[in-house]
Amino acid sequence: MATEGREIDRGEWSSKVGFILAAAGSAIGLGNIWRFPYVTGQNGGAAFLILYLVCVLLIGVPVMIAELTIGRYSRKNPVGAFGAIKPGSWWKIVGYLGVLTGVCILSYYTVMAGYTIGYIVKTLIGNETSFSAFTSNGRLAIPLFLLFSVLTVLVVQGGIRNGIERWAKILMPLLLLLLVLLIIRSVTLEGAGRGLAFYFKPDFGKVTGKTVLAALGQAFFSLSLGMGAMITYGSYLSKRDNIVTSGCYVALFDTMIAVMAGLIIFPALFAMNMNPAEGPGLVFEVLPRIFPQLPAGNIIGAAFFLLLSIAALTSTISLLEVATAYLVDEKHWLRRRAVWIVAGLSFCLGLPSALSQGIVPALAELPLPGGGSFLGFMDWLFANVMLAVGAILISIFFGWVWKMKAAAEEIRTGNPRVGRLLLVLDIMLRFVCPILILVVLVYLFISV
Ligand code: PFF
Repeated sequence: MATEGREIDRGEWSSKVGFILAAAGSAIGLGNIWRFPYVTGQNGGAAFLILYLVCVLLIGVPVMIAELTIGRYSRKNPVGAFGAIKPGSWWKIVGYLGVLTGVCILSYYTVMAGYTIGYIVKTLIGNETSFSAFTSNGRLAIPLFLLFSVLTVLVVQGGIRNGIERWAKILMPLLLLLLVLLIIRSVTLEGAGRGLAFYFKPDFGKVTGKTVLAALGQAFFSLSLGMGAMITYGSYLSKRDNIVTSGCYVALFDTMIAVMAGLIIFPALFAMNMNPAEGPGLVFEVLPRIFPQLPAGNIIGAAFFLLLSIAALTSTISLLEVATAYLVDEKHWLRRRAVWIVAGLSFCLGLPSALSQGIVPALAELPLPGGGSFLGFMDWLFANVMLAVGAILISIFFGWVWKMKAAAEEIRTGNPRVGRLLLVLDIMLRFVCPILILVVLVYLFISV
């Protein structure tokens, strides 16, 4: 099976647009459409939104550019990338951590993604089972999890241009179109104005340390930062392309989709006199109660969950691609073999998460952080802790080990007029990002 010794054609995005859509596809996912609205709802609305935007700008964008630059310079997966820039150093471990984090996030993220597929049909046929009854039905949850895993494999197996890029080019514009339709529906509902006020009129009296940290954590997860997904996607970026503008577009699209998701959910919620601080069940519990009240509600609801599945698929693709790229580049495995084995492993690892949502009660009451369920613990450990650890190490590596002097040449390739921006980026990556991320990590541990 192996292609020992032969130089492998790793593939490259066919164009800047292809890259931007694929990377935005990675960033845009359950994090934007399911997680962002419920975290915003819990943290008071508009003030959280503003803090989130500040976090994306101050930390998200610099770490995004750092990851893309490391990837394009080395033309490698995260393990190979750190090894290429600092040969023989322990920085390779950051790459291994990324590969591990990717497989682990993939394991439970795909469980959630499976629910979204189930909800397309559930909403369409007007089935009124509650979210908890749905997730505790093993005969639904497990096959849906398997189905979503296979869908992800089939896309990633196709490689860079024919798999990831081709699908992102079709799926991302479709997603945008569906969002716009749903926003129009939501904001024209009677009573939507109060939702808009909640979302856009800040009340800074509600801001606490916890709000700031929730905003920062959400920014990492949403932008796919801290596990080398953007190093991997950057490695397929052409030398002709401009890293800074490409990274900014990805961050902009990701943020735009999150803001749009809020524009669907808050006006509808307030129009229905519901509580915005409902929590993680917001999308799955509250929206299905809203859709039947709309004209053609079943179809609008099914469209919404279709959109959520599409967004989740373009994210699971990137979660699988990190470990795949590692095995293809470093171990010279064939792509097809790497993809099936990694996905198989991740599926086995995801089973306890799938079972922890009501199927096996013991797995829902563990004495662990993250709310007690196995899935909650995996999310806490890998999305909250490991992404923050990864992001802080990546910014320290870029700012203090590789250093801007060396990295600047790569950033200038495809962007000769970057100028002063490099200085700003340097300060952000050396000081601002590590310090702020450290605050999040310390907070995470003291709040366990
Ligand atoms: N950014 C994705 C989302 O918002 O749903 C989740 C994610 C994908 C996180 C890829 C990390 C990653 F590497």
